[in-house]
Amino acid sequence: MAPDLSTVFTGIRFRNPFLLSSAPPTESESNILRAFEAGWGGVVTKTIGLHPVVNVVGPKTKFLRADADSPHLSMKKRPGSALHSSWNWELISDKTLDWWVPRLGRIKQAFPDHVLVASIMAGSGNDTELRHWQHLAEACQEQGCDALEINLSCPHMDRPDMGSNVGKDKELVSIVTKVVKEVAKVPVWAKLTPSTTDIVIEARGAFLGGADAISSSNTFTSLPLIDADTLDFEVQVDGLVSTGGLGGPAILPLSLAKMSQLTQAFPDKDFSGIGGITTFEQALNYFLLGCGTAQICTAAMLDHAIGPNVIRALNDGLTRFLEKNAAKGWTRVDDFVGLRRDRVVAQSKIRRPTEKDYRGGYDAEGYAAPEEATAKR
Ligand SMILES: Cc1cc2nc3c(=O)[nH]c(=O)nc-3n(C[C@H](O)[C@H](O)[C@H](O)COP(=O)(O)O)c2cc1C
Repeated sequence: MAPDLSTVFTGIRFRNPFLLSSAPPTESESNILRAFEAGWGGVVTKTIGLHPVVNVVGPKTKFLRADADSPHLSMKKRPGSALHSSWNWELISDKTLDWWVPRLGRIKQAFPDHVLVASIMAGSGNDTELRHWQHLAEACQEQGCDALEINLSCPHMDRPDMGSNVGKDKELVSIVTKVVKEVAKVPVWAKLTPSTTDIVIEARGAFLGGADAISSSNTFTSLPLIDADTLDFEVQVDGLVSTGGLGGPAILPLSLAKMSQLTQAFPDKDFSGIGGITTFEQALNYFLLGCGTAQICTAAMLDHAIGPNVIRALNDGLTRFLEKNAAKGWTRVDDFVGLRRDRVVAQSKIRRPTEKDYRGGYDAEGYAAPEEATAKR
């Protein structure tokens, strides 16, 4: 009998734990329908706002590549190079809520058993702006969306009360989450920015506001590289660039570190892991650290726009993993979620070559005694 890939996350049943994250793969009805046909367990729509946005002239996303035989990194496509990361400065959906509403309803009608999550974003500077969050939430859930993901993490919004600027402010995170929860009839996931000192602080704000789960990471604030010949940024318009977001393989270890902090601080809460996933083995890291679902963007963008081969490989990988570990009694994802969460410890807890204790620099051990250090000056 084939293993059961299904899982329940924030009370919602998924046929498998893999979702397309909010990004170009989920920006249209046709893409989302294709994604469900291809086998994705869920889809988070491209972030929906009330008003249309206008994107920059030229490419909104480019891919940084590394050479195998030199330290060269560049966005220039060349033979033998491997993907390092994606870089984007794309804003939220350039379609309005009115455009999205009938499409969300049609998608849900066509695929009632697949999970459709609406990603939403508004300003948060005053009561009117906060009501926009509620308006977006109500409109999407009325169309049958199974959950809402509140985007508190887009790294290139100018307004101080939008995107990652909200995600950097624990009070605003809490307020926005609470406002959405007031009207939400479906679970609310808060997508946080990794670009803060201690993501646990903002996550606490989200949980205090009533979030049902945290999604992490969005892209990391970053710049494209400067070309040494032209002295121009590899992505620019009229010589100018703004900070944008780094995704793809380069952020996998960075995002895992954020996730480890989160799942250790809130072991009983739900987390959706995002960042740098292409293969099942990479997604497994997130499951073992305590995530119940995993989301994918960059890898899917590079695979026929919605990742048909990526999702096939993820499902095959999970199937093989469950078969291989059947003797341990593992029959579903839940059986191994969080199994390595507590293996991440303070550095002083790692064994030393001698029996001697190291107390993390809290005593003089490992350093010269104060009088010795003074004498040497
Ligand atoms: C071109 C592009 C557009 C994106 N747009 C959104 C968005 O509208 N809303 C959002 O929450 N995340 C957005 N993201 C972030 C992704 O959903 C995801 O969090 C990030 O890319 C990390 O995953 P990855 O390493 O699999 O790419 C975008 C990413 C890219 C590359």
